[in-house]
Amino acid sequence: MGVVTMLITLGRTQSLNSSWREGQWRRLVSAALLFGLVVTPATVMGDESGAQAAGQARLANLVVQDCGSCHGLTLRGGLGPPLRPEDLGDLSVEAIAAIIREGVPDTAMPPWKPLLSPKEIHWISQQLKSGALVSP
Ligand code: HEC
Repeated sequence: MGVVTMLITLGRTQSLNSSWREGQWRRLVSAALLFGLVVTPATVMGDESGAQAAGQARLANLVVQDCGSCHGLTLRGGLGPPLRPEDLGDLSVEAIAAIIREGVPDTAMPPWKPLLSPKEIHWISQQLKSGALVSP
């Protein structure tokens, strides 16, 4: 639905019930403001642009949701082993990246290379190694 359609819809609603519409507008405006607050700092941040920050937020979410579906939402293990830094002690970032890329044959651990770029996989491995995505 385009903005224009939205405005037209809102305009129509006004004739039906103007106070309801006013409430909707307030909600819309505050949602827009909030969105601005959340998105703007990421966009003005650093040299690599907000697109990267958004990409990392997406990846962090993927680790918690998708990897977490097997490794536990707090990465403390489940069907798959725990992935906290203390559990990955012996594995280097490169070794972890290789496991994520290729999966572990004959286990439930799937290869992620069809879904994630080498850069994304490397980033995830670094996060796992540092524990940045694990809530205390
Ligand atoms: C469908 C279930 C499943 C999903 C989804 C999954 N894994 Fe796994 N993973 C496993 C299993 C099972 C193992 C253990 C394999 C074995 O027996 O060596 C494993 C092993 C691993 C290991 C090696 C751990 C170690 O100590 O040897 C890493 C690292 C890992 N997974 C990372 C990830 C990441 C990152 C994701 C998300 C991108 C992910 N996994 C998604 C099931 C899963």
